[in-house]
Amino acid sequence: MQILTTKEALQQAVAASKQAGQTIGLVPTMGALHAGHASLVRRAVEENDVCFVSVFVNPTQFNNKEDLAKYPRDIERDAALLRSIGASYVFAPTPEEMYTEEEMNSTFSFDFNGLDQVMEGKMRPGHFNGVVQVVSRLFYLVQPDKAYFGEKDYQQLAIIHHMVERSSLSGTFGSLQIVGCPIVREESGLALSSRNERLSAAEKETALGISRTLFASLEWAKEPGASVKEVEHRVVDTINAIEGLEVEYYEIVDQATLLPTDTFEHAIGCVTVYCGPVRLIDNIRYA
Ligand code: PAF
Repeated sequence: MQILTTKEALQQAVAASKQAGQTIGLVPTMGALHAGHASLVRRAVEENDVCFVSVFVNPTQFNNKEDLAKYPRDIERDAALLRSIGASYVFAPTPEEMYTEEEMNSTFSFDFNGLDQVMEGKMRPGHFNGVVQVVSRLFYLVQPDKAYFGEKDYQQLAIIHHMVERSSLSGTFGSLQIVGCPIVREESGLALSSRNERLSAAEKETALGISRTLFASLEWAKEPGASVKEVEHRVVDTINAIEGLEVEYYEIVDQATLLPTDTFEHAIGCVTVYCGPVRLIDNIRYA
């Protein structure tokens, strides 16, 4: 496995793979890798001739400076994990290598057909612009056949799907296929997240209330006459009743449009909860 830190070295490695007729899988990450990331990389290694993993804490998608500063970073540990799984290349650039100063501070905005106006988009203005800025740059540099994303960031996945579908007309990303992979949970039910590293043992225990409530809500949704609004309120009240947790939003939306829905058919519930200062997200599909 090689670690590349410049766009030039990355593009050389990509060109060599393309010349050899190899298929390329890409897993974009921000590092602090856990078993959820490992599942994406394993799949990319299995399904492609070469697997590129990017490890880059992208400053343009953070609207909170403290969150950016505190985001866990450990490239040595990440590289050891990626090597053990069989990744071919790790791309770990600095922000200055990725962006010009203008790009770092630009407020250009993509059109996401409203997908960015709800939930995370509403709470974190500019966040998805930053995500799409870095992901489209990675797609351009690596020209992957397949790119892998976790379903924990469900809205991000929907937005990336939208971006690739829209650009398929112009052929910008060739025949790129976006692969969404299921949430990986601890045995306790807690969704794996790099931000879990910031939780104390006691906070981790408290955070279990999130997934426990989401799973319980699958049963509430089956109760005779259960409405989407009632289940939404019950989830919020149940989580807020747990000391140390505070819900930012819980919305049950259509899995494709992310718009509010009044049926559980094709619905997904997306939650963001503060556990102390740490912002955690999770989701659950109803049908
Ligand atoms: O999901 C993430 O870790 C990031 O948003 C991504 C896709 C790597 C872009 O920085």
